[in-house]
Amino acid sequence: MELIKKGAEAELYKIMYKNRPAVLKRRIPKRYRVPELDEHIRKTRTRREARLLERARRSGVLAPEVYHVDDKKMEIVMEYVSGERAKEYLLRTGDAGLMRKIGELIAILHENNIVHGDLTTSNIILSGKDIYFIDFGLGSVSTSIEDKAVDLVCFEKSFIATHSDIAEEGWNALVDGYGRYSEAPLIWKRFEEVKRRARYL
Ligand SMILES: Nc1ncnc2c1ncn2[C@@H]1O[C@H](COP(=O)(O)OP(=O)(O)O)[C@@H](O)[C@H]1O
Ligand SMILES: [Mg+2]
Repeated sequence: MELIKKGAEAELYKIMYKNRPAVLKRRIPKRYRVPELDEHIRKTRTRREARLLERARRSGVLAPEVYHVDDKKMEIVMEYVSGERAKEYLLRTGDAGLMRKIGELIAILHENNIVHGDLTTSNIILSGKDIYFIDFGLGSVSTSIEDKAVDLVCFEKSFIATHSDIAEEGWNALVDGYGRYSEAPLIWKRFEEVKRRARYL
């Protein structure tokens, strides 16, 4: 079992599952939380992540296939996606145009009422020409304009922090791509309101 990442929230391993390369994602206890609450949070996020990975796939956005979920062990076994994360790709190439395609895919997620909850270029994997979304544990199914706008506000914040060199060109490309969604104008209006509110907090 090869360790991919040991984060604050989860450990990820590359494994073989029924002869297929797979990722085991296990949510680990946080000792500062009351144990009952901690279990509840990890269980909710595990189930939620599995459900949203499937829902994304059904909506036509690529995401790893879920092979197995165990909400007692807090584990998901999913398809291993080989490739490079959008983060490293963008830092390496400065190819801001990729953000247009990413914007189109976020539009499809939002059209299908999937709010990702943690949009960052670390949660997008490029596999050949394919773009995969991962890490849906903070996501939700929501029709709310506010939730979708907040999804984009969070993404912009992390995008600018990580990709300051291509921030403007990249974000403009994303806005372009997201424009395929009929509700885009409404959501960008709310996006500005959310940011305005955040400044006065
Ligand atoms: N299905 C997968 N295939 C290949 N690599 C993955 C897969 N899922 C996660 N990873 C890798 O592990 C890292 C952490 O996974 P992620 O689900 O984002 O957990 P975290 O909550 O710790 O951010 C990702 O950034 C990616 O590099
Ligand atoms: Mg992640």
